Amino acid sequence: MKNLRADFPILSNLENGERLVYLDSAATAQKPLCVLDAEREYYLRDNANPHRGVYDLSQRATQIHDDARETVRSFINAGSADEIVFTQNASEALNLVAYSYGLEFIKSGDRIVVAVSEHHSNLVPWQRVANKTGAELIYLYPDQNGHYTDEELSSKIIPGTKLVAMAQVSNVLGMINPVSKVIKMAHDVGAVAVIDCAQSIPHMRIDVQALDADFIAFSGHKIYAPMGIGVLYGRYGLLDKMPPFLSGGDMISQVHESGATYAAPPRKFEAGTRNVGGEAALARALSYVESIGWKEIESIEDSLMKAALEGLSRFPEIEIYGSMNPEERKGVISFNIGDIHPHDVATILDAGGVAIRAGHHCAQPLMDYLRINSCCRASFGVYNTLEDVEIFLDNIAKVRSWMGLGS
Ligand code: ALA
Repeated sequence: MKNLRADFPILSNLENGERLVYLDSAATAQKPLCVLDAEREYYLRDNANPHRGVYDLSQRATQIHDDARETVRSFINAGSADEIVFTQNASEALNLVAYSYGLEFIKSGDRIVVAVSEHHSNLVPWQRVANKTGAELIYLYPDQNGHYTDEELSSKIIPGTKLVAMAQVSNVLGMINPVSKVIKMAHDVGAVAVIDCAQSIPHMRIDVQALDADFIAFSGHKIYAPMGIGVLYGRYGLLDKMPPFLSGGDMISQVHESGATYAAPPRKFEAGTRNVGGEAALARALSYVESIGWKEIESIEDSLMKAALEGLSRFPEIEIYGSMNPEERKGVISFNIGDIHPHDVATILDAGGVAIRAGHHCAQPLMDYLRINSCCRASFGVYNTLEDVEIFLDNIAKVRSWMGLGS
């Protein structure tokens, strides 16, 4: 198993005097030096406003912008680079779909079907579309082990459904959701499917053509790129018929006093100056991931998941949410230790240099469904090692003994 820790400069810093064991990659991943260099090189050598200048420097910036789009296209195997829209993050991508597709094509009485385990980014926009249009919002519920069963899907994705929203991997349960099935069921009833890939993109190969996806969204910062750059993939025929989301410079064809016509996708959805430095860094991050290879990434992360699940399940008071089968999960493990408040757990772990997230994870409807207020979440990236998992488990043992749960 490769040890990629040295590629990530921040991981050589001490936290609270201890080796940094970063287990919060589901919130944001750390960045390898090559990605930091890509953004710096752009600003050192190639910075100008793309599409604005006829001079060489601006044309280089335009080329970097176009090349980054092509790198994203190839990474997710989209049929055309015109199906790749750059956004700030997954939230903006999902809001784009809600405002430009949802408000335009969903009407009173239609059904919007959303998984209850969604991050608020793929849930609140649909609540707003339902409120605004008069559509009915229907939730899908997982079973005790975190699975969305065929029965649940087929009883809710029925004629009248116009849109189905689901994450490929839940940011709390870590479960790999049956999105291929959901997309097919959505199409069978004439609906579109919106897949949030923010949590899956760093862990598994995504092929939008094989998925037959309508819309997928992800953030760069969860796949080792900087914050502030994200992607919406949209099927071209859908993007083409959607009105713009934000309007202004660079998204138009012609503007006169009497009105405007718009550029073709993707530029129709890219108003204003773009984050070309972020796009260059995202492209470098995707190339970095490809240089490691999916087989290696899955082998590293699957062994971490297995070791962490096994280790946690040895402690009697720990409740783990989602399936105990490591093959059904990616990236995250959420848990509670008896009645100990997750913030106490996270604070004690922090003293040992271990960073985990504690709280509702921007998934409050799921917390309600699980009948908890919050939980702890440990999540992995390619830089984590089995030694990180051991340190994490040693610190969990410390939490138990400090809180009087045995040694
Ligand atoms: N969406 C991020 C998370 O799940 C911030 O932590």
